Amino acid sequence: MSDSNPTPVWLAAPERAETTGPSEQEPPLAEQQEKKKIQANPVQNKPTQTNADVASASQSETLLEVSQVTKSFWLEDHRIDVLQDLTFSLSRSETVAIVGASGAGKSTLLHILGTLDLPTRGDIRILGQDILAMSEDELATFRNRSMGFVFQAHYLLPEFTALENVMMPAFIQRLSKKEAKERADELLNWVGLHERAKHRPGELSGGERQRVALCRALVMRPPLLLADEPTGNLDARTSEGIHRLLLELHQTWDVTPIIVTHNLALAQKMDRKLEIRAGKVHPIEDVETLGIVPKTGSLLSTDGGS
Ligand SMILES: Nc1ncnc2c1ncn2[C@@H]1O[C@H](COP(=O)(O)OP(=O)(O)OP(=O)(O)O)[C@@H](O)[C@H]1O
Ligand SMILES: [Mg+2]
Repeated sequence: MSDSNPTPVWLAAPERAETTGPSEQEPPLAEQQEKKKIQANPVQNKPTQTNADVASASQSETLLEVSQVTKSFWLEDHRIDVLQDLTFSLSRSETVAIVGASGAGKSTLLHILGTLDLPTRGDIRILGQDILAMSEDELATFRNRSMGFVFQAHYLLPEFTALENVMMPAFIQRLSKKEAKERADELLNWVGLHERAKHRPGELSGGERQRVALCRALVMRPPLLLADEPTGNLDARTSEGIHRLLLELHQTWDVTPIIVTHNLALAQKMDRKLEIRAGKVHPIEDVETLGIVPKTGSLLSTDGGS
């Protein structure tokens, strides 16, 4: 990370991206092909806060509303119930950590919130939009306008440099090359990768690739950032820098981060902490009270970022 840690220029000048066309940020997802089948089932608009597992924030600032969302996978004749009747809502004014043991369903939930996977049942509204009622084209446009993604596999394009990868969403959304480059430069500088801008993903470490993916997710300044273990491969000092960035994004520029993490230091800094356990979502105050079993090599409290 840069020692001087300057505030990116673009943080001071919020604007909403207008965009058309499909996203190149989204991971491939085979289950998207099942969308039409699932959409054949009527999705009810249920009241948001009945039987809520998690207290809701004010409706006027509601970012997303999840109502009785269930997700099951089928493997041959065996059904895996991952999420069961989740009901909660999140406000734009709060940062959110989703924690839980490996295999609990955190990534599954994040993919559903990112409209990259469909619930088996339930209702989801994001920024007031019923996302399950949208066509695939509408969803792609909505995703482009509203969300940035950082997933466990970061899907950088191998033939392009770090800088070009970060600029890619801006190109797709027809920003000028000058502005796209300015934003990408600022972000890469912010995450300490300015000197790696011309490297291709294969010439970067895992943690560096992860930081490039974070920059790419932010270059279009989405209102919602969905990140799956954004500091998973990073050393303590770099992780701390990313934590600062995530919090500053929210405070300075109104990007709401929803972060899946095994890093309890990061989770502790978020306004809302939701634990996925036994298929349900549980609000928690203090992550230190959690009995999470960390994944191998992912010791949580050693980050030093608190
Ligand atoms: N496409 C799929 N088909 C069948 N089972 C799946 C599928 N995707 C996920 N699962 C199962 O769902 C459960 C939840 O997976 P998920 O990836 O959401 O866990 P996680 O909480 O993100 O774990 P981790 O912390 O290890 O990333 C796991 O038991 C996994 O094996
Ligand atoms: Mg996961």
